[in-house]
Amino acid sequence: MSAPGVVSAEQPAPLDEEDVILVVDDDGSIRELIADVLTAKGYTCATAESAEQALEMLPTRNVSLVISDIYMSGMTGVDLLAKVSRLDPDLPVILITGMADMDAAIEALKKGAYDFLTKPFHLDNLAFSAARGLEKRRFAVERKAYQEFLERTVAKRTQDLKQANLDLILALSEAIEAKDRYTRGNCNRVRVMSQALGAAVGMDEKSLEMLEYAALLHDIGKIAVPGKILNKKGPLTVEEFALIKEHPLAAVKMLGELALLRPAVPAIRGHHERLDGRGYPDGLTGDRIPLEARILSVPDAFDAMTSQRPYRPAMPVDAAMDELCLGKGTQFDPQLVDLFLEHAISRKLNL
Ligand SMILES: [Fe+2]
Repeated sequence: MSAPGVVSAEQPAPLDEEDVILVVDDDGSIRELIADVLTAKGYTCATAESAEQALEMLPTRNVSLVISDIYMSGMTGVDLLAKVSRLDPDLPVILITGMADMDAAIEALKKGAYDFLTKPFHLDNLAFSAARGLEKRRFAVERKAYQEFLERTVAKRTQDLKQANLDLILALSEAIEAKDRYTRGNCNRVRVMSQALGAAVGMDEKSLEMLEYAALLHDIGKIAVPGKILNKKGPLTVEEFALIKEHPLAAVKMLGELALLRPAVPAIRGHHERLDGRGYPDGLTGDRIPLEARILSVPDAFDAMTSQRPYRPAMPVDAAMDELCLGKGTQFDPQLVDLFLEHAISRKLNL
């Protein structure tokens, strides 16, 4: 007896019961002879009297091998081969032909037939060819299953890594808010609104991911600012405000060397830039401000206006929207403000 998985002409390895060999021939005697021989070898067979009928049966049966005559009334075996190859490229097809049809058989092999048998064929040759065809099918199915397993594993690990990165960044953003109690919740609100605005602009998935990181960490540089300034009740002095204005560059120093976050740095660095060049830290103008930074600045300003500060109460949402409109072209990118308002992105937070 052969070892498992080893195929020989004398003892072909039987298939799982659900695997079916489909025998296609318009000559009933040959069709039944082939099916009887293979059934006697332990295989499950189904028969079709035409290529058309075979094609109808394929979706309903777990066919692992097709054995078909070439010349039949209606569609030929070569035509059937072409259709089967399109439906299931890994499904082997063995064609049967008369001795005079060698050219057709060679042509069929060129078109992807797994093997061909010439009539009259020896029954052992039929069994041997069927066994090889089924081995090829098994190998293809196992290879596909392994490939799908690998793809699922990579996707799962990628998702796990992404979640681990996000958890780390969320922890960092909580550290910012623990220090500046008046901006509690700001990072997450800016995150949600930035994502919505980025999606409205048409950003791709990777860019949206970096925008998310930037939104969560945009104020991380405030960790370098004394807490008594961040939480001061009352107006800031010029010197104190100058210290706060250092927070974008402080963030660049903290994050700039981290490969994971480097793509998010331009948005963080530029989130207080203004279109008219009166922003900080670089005084950039117009389109020289990175798009991600221009996006981030709109929800960040909106959230700052609608949040309570130690030196002023929260502004009503409608008034904050009016302020955004007033800042179009000077502080904010006009198209981004329009998108922000048009999509009522602020409403997503039920503000
Ligand atoms: Fe900021």
